[in-house]
Order: sequence, then C-alpha cells, then structure tokens
Amino acid sequence: MAKLRPLPTTGAVTGIFEALAFFRDPSFAKRRFTRLGNVFETSMLGQPMVFIQGDQAIADLLCQPDKIEGWWPESVQQLLGSRSLANRNGAAHKARRRVVAQLFSSAALQRYSPGIVNLIDELSEELKTAKGPLPLTEKMRRFAFSVIATTVLGLEGNDRDKLFSDFEIWTKALFSIPIALPGSPFAKALKARKRLLKKLQVILRQPNNGKGGLDLLAEGLDEAGIPFTDEDLGEQLLLLLFAGYETTASALSCLMRELLLNPQMETWIREEIDTLNWPPTPAQATMVYEPANAPRLDALVKEVMRFTPPVGGFFRRTKQSLVLDGIVVPNNRVVQVALIASNRHGIGDLDIFRPQRHLENECSLSLMPFGGGERICLGKSLAELEIRMMVIGLFRKLQLEAIPDQDFSLRQIPSPSPRDGLLVKVKG
Ligand code: HEM
Repeated sequence: MAKLRPLPTTGAVTGIFEALAFFRDPSFAKRRFTRLGNVFETSMLGQPMVFIQGDQAIADLLCQPDKIEGWWPESVQQLLGSRSLANRNGAAHKARRRVVAQLFSSAALQRYSPGIVNLIDELSEELKTAKGPLPLTEKMRRFAFSVIATTVLGLEGNDRDKLFSDFEIWTKALFSIPIALPGSPFAKALKARKRLLKKLQVILRQPNNGKGGLDLLAEGLDEAGIPFTDEDLGEQLLLLLFAGYETTASALSCLMRELLLNPQMETWIREEIDTLNWPPTPAQATMVYEPANAPRLDALVKEVMRFTPPVGGFFRRTKQSLVLDGIVVPNNRVVQVALIASNRHGIGDLDIFRPQRHLENECSLSLMPFGGGERICLGKSLAELEIRMMVIGLFRKLQLEAIPDQDFSLRQIPSPSPRDGLLVKVKG
C-alpha cells in the first residue's frame, strides 16, 4: 500500500493575501497545485481551506458521503438562510431535495418548454428589430431569470420585475464580507432578502392558475412525510433563483462568445442545428436535442462547461479525517473541489477550446460542472435544456455578429462573463 502523506500547506495564517489573490488571479489554484501537488491547504480570511484537483482526489472525497457534509461561505449561508437545503445536511437535506426535485422531473420540463420557446422567440424578435447593438450577456441573464421566475415559479409582469430588482441587490452581496454595517452591500442584501421571502411566501399562498410548476411541489411534500412551513418553502425557492440564474446565464454567454469569435466553429454547429426541428412540441423538447440526436451541440456545451465552468468550485466539510489521493486531510476541514484547475489538469491541449475532443473520446477527464454525489445540482436537466434550446432557437432564426472594439475578456467572479457585455447585431 502506498505511504500516506501529510497535507502540504502554503503556510498562510491570516489568509488576507490569499483571499485577495484568489479573487484577482484566475490561476490562483493552478499555481499552488503545481507547487504543492493535487491536495494542499491554505487559509482564506482566517478560514483554513483544503483545495483539491484531479479525478482521484475528487472520487476519494465523494465516495465517502458519511464522512463529509455541505458547506458554504458565511455570506452565502446567511443570505440563503438556515432553512435552505443548501445549508442542511442528513435527513433534513434529503427530504427537501425530494420536494424541490419535483420541479425538475421530465414531466415538469415538458410543461416548461413552451414558455422557454416563447422567451427565445421574443428575444430573436428583439434582436431582429433592434435599432442598434444589444448586449447579449444582459439578454442571457434576463432569459435565465425569466425561466425560473416565470416558467417555474409562475410570476409575470410587475411581480416578476419587483422580484428581479431585489434579487440583483441580494446577489451582489453573496460573496461579500458578511458584516451588516449600515448602508453596506451586505446590510442592503439582508433587507432585500426579507422582502424577497415575503413575496415568495405570498406566491406560495396564491392559487396556481395553471402557471408555473409550484403545484408539482405537493407530491413531494406528501412523500417527504415531514411538515413544511411557508418560511421553509420560501427559502427553497430563493435558493432556486440564486442557483439557477447567474450559472445558466454565464454558460450561455460564454458559449455565444466562443461562437461569435470563431466563425468556423459557428459553421460547424450550424450544420447540425439546421437538421434539428424548431420549435419542438413539449414531448419532443426533452428528447430531440439529447446527445444522440445532437452530438455536436452536446460536445459544444460540454466544452463550455469544461473551459469556463460557471461554478469554479464546490465545497464540503470533513466530519472525520479522510485520505484524498494519498494525502491525509484532518477532521473539520473545508474542502474546495477546484473545478477550473481540475478541468485543465492532464495531458494534451487542455488550454484550448475544442469541442471536438468530446466527440473523439479523447477527453479522459471526469467533468463535474454540476458537482457530484448527494448534492449534485438539482437543476442540471433544466439548465441543459435551456442552453440547448437557446442555441437552436436563436441560431435557426438569426445570424449574429459581434461589434468589434469591445473587451471580449471574461470577468471571473461570481461566474465567467464577457466584460463589455458581448455587444451584437444581426448580420446583413
Ligand atoms: C449551467 C448551469 C448550472 C451549473 C453549472 C450549476 C452548478 C451547480 C453546482 C456545482 C452545485 C453544487 C453541487 C455540489 O455541491 O456537489 C449546484 C447545486 C445546486 N444547483 Fe445548480 N447549476 C446550474 C443551474 C442550476 C439551475 C437552473 C437550478 C435550478 C433552478 C439549480 C439548482 C441547484 C440547487 C438547488 C443546488 C443545491 C443542491 C444541494 O445542495 O443539494 N442549478 N449547482
């Protein structure tokens, strides 16, 4: 048996410089992995944190669910709330997952698909009739928000717009310092959180009128066998807005950016898109764009998730000491699975965006853009459906071109997104 090794460390104590470097340097983890190996410890603002990369260390972590639990930074914990399933563990976590999962079943996705088609057709029309360039990134954000707020939660018009403005205040503080000094972003976000929860609870009490999918929650509530208060359900809905909006918008914006900057790739994907049906019927929507029917689209989405993962890393806390890739990690350590570094760690041209690698079966990495194990993303199928439908719906109707002389580089926090908002116009 290979000898177990102690945990290498950067030696950081206060973690102030480490935290600054983490936010400023996209290669933060990569540099330290190169120096210290696939598992190392550092400190982030006083919080000891173990970073891991590579299939072995990640598999070792996730195959021992009894020895780990979920963890989020303090700001996220406070803003999501103690009832949120993201902040729960064990049976309380499982019961809430079962309830919320009802919103993402295949039948639920079929129900949402006409709403998604409408949002995409409206956006195509807006782009076609625009008098000047439009920022595609903002349009993708609005789309991802509308899918959850309108299609899933059933909100429309004024109700949705009010929710959107409070939501923007709330998200700005999610990864901030959690001290509620008067007037600080965190204090504003706590107030916005209260207003958001109040609105979400009103929505939960309203008759459903056939809009959205909230009636689907009832089945899960019966099965869960534990009573849920409106406050509890409200926090689960708040989590969905948080988890499903920035992430999906980031994936869409990064995908559009790659196609706009690379005409050959656009031609390559168009050859496949032109063979696919649009708009799909609800029964078709969840099936016809699957990898078997749209392998290039699948490869393109996989490569976006590999190259610019919307969530750069996910966390667990150890409840007992663990061995990860031959390194002993003590009890009560926060472990960050560093997806950005992991996705480029291996042999070959992994620093290049090349979707074809997934068709040629040359990509031996296990990609985990949606996390893994007992906490794997609940909205994975919805996110994939939204992304596939947007690419097909938009490209079947239009040819876009990017306005030159803008900054196409990506800001990284909270999720990768083109700095100048990806200004585009319709070709011709
Ligand atoms: C491209 C889009 C998305 C990406 C990349 C993504 C990624 C992730 C990741 C990495 C996690 C953490 C998993 C873990 O800890 O193992 C997560 C959790 C979660 N995601 Fe997503 N997500 C996306 C879209 C969505 C959508 C659309 C929704 C719902 C509307 C959603 C709902 C959730 C929920 C509820 C959790 C918490 C699960 C738990 O703690 O049990 N996500 N997601």
